[in-house]
Amino acid sequence: MFTWGVSTSAYQIEGAANEGGRAPSIWDTFSRIPGAVANADNGDVACDHYHRYEEDLDLMKWLGVDAYHFSIAWPRVIPTAKGALNKTGLDFYDRLIDGALERGITPWPTLYHWDLPQAAQDKGGWNNRDCAYWFAEYAHAMGEKFGDRVKNWVTINEPFCSAWLGHLYGVMAPGIKDLQIGINASHHLLLGHGLAVDALRQVSSDFKVGVTLNFTPAIALGDSAEDLLAIQYADGFDNRWFADPVFKASYPKDIVEAFGKEVPIHPGDMEIISRPVDFLGLNYYFRQTVQYDAQAKPLPYKVINPPGVERTGMGWEVHAETFTKLLKYMHKEYGIKEFFITENGSAWDDKVVDGKVDDPNRVSYLERHLDAMFQAKAEGVPISGYFAWSLIDNFEWAYGYEKRFGLIHVDYQTQKRTPKSSAYYYRERIKNS
Ligand code: FCB
Repeated sequence: MFTWGVSTSAYQIEGAANEGGRAPSIWDTFSRIPGAVANADNGDVACDHYHRYEEDLDLMKWLGVDAYHFSIAWPRVIPTAKGALNKTGLDFYDRLIDGALERGITPWPTLYHWDLPQAAQDKGGWNNRDCAYWFAEYAHAMGEKFGDRVKNWVTINEPFCSAWLGHLYGVMAPGIKDLQIGINASHHLLLGHGLAVDALRQVSSDFKVGVTLNFTPAIALGDSAEDLLAIQYADGFDNRWFADPVFKASYPKDIVEAFGKEVPIHPGDMEIISRPVDFLGLNYYFRQTVQYDAQAKPLPYKVINPPGVERTGMGWEVHAETFTKLLKYMHKEYGIKEFFITENGSAWDDKVVDGKVDDPNRVSYLERHLDAMFQAKAEGVPISGYFAWSLIDNFEWAYGYEKRFGLIHVDYQTQKRTPKSSAYYYRERIKNS
């Protein structure tokens, strides 16, 4: 059976930042830095999902989805990052999981969607190797606590964003700009993933465990030797740096060399990182165009935005054929046995008019990407499910509430939810599948 689902993440929707014993995460801290987030927005209230989860589960039931992919907020369940569990925080996820199951919806948690407890950051965060072990302990605790009802687990969401956007470019929490720290963070995130796979398997051999990686295929305007180099570096930085360790037990040599830095690998790390997973959670949004640039750091290429390209409200190129190609490539190159599309979607400048939100651009994006995914599936790629990003509009990280990705519109003044045309489209598509 093909799994139809929707995705969200804790910091982006829950709110209740200071309730129920939740401690601050690095996003609470980062969003307070002047200029870090558009309009100085933060996740204090977000979509108030912490209180409105029943309504949101009802909306999922109305959509007809089989599964809900959400994330557990580590600082809500272990406020000190390591050590004592917070019962009030666990109770929330108990209610959420039970509420989903009562509606016939399978809960699919991710354990880390970027909201590291600030307490862990105060000890160095992902730059500190110990963080990988704290993460594994937390994973183990969640497995024990929810494993009677939760069978599908995603360890880490998009280590690319945590590592590079958070520690190299500083545009996401914790806002560090340092290549060596970025490399350390990427390695410790991946190590944390591998240790969490072991920790969850220790709890139960029934669990299906995977990791979510995002992929951004690159093209260039021509096919000169320099164009090909730019593509190779972009692919190495965005895609291979994360997929190779997990599925080939090594970092891409060309990129390690080009960085000219040490990767803090200890003996045995690569075996842990490459522990067999049951599935790859694949996130796809867009492709990028790159150009060779000898001066660019940390690798000699830059992203360019050629005109005449269809783009979403994020400026991301809409290119569904790339989705098909990527899935076929990942299957062939990495021999992945099962895929779930854990995120795919688009942001547009949605408006409520007479109580309705018509979003033809999102419908078109969704339709073309679903078709592209099913094309790959028809050609033999083992894809078992698709989770649309996102159920509801939410806190889009450094873009704050400005960018809307939801199938369901949220009025942040009143917290009123309004299904957009795309929600009706998705509902029909699921019904007719
Ligand atoms: C992904 C993130 C998700 C959301 C979408 C638009 O990179 O995992 O939280 O921000 O992009």
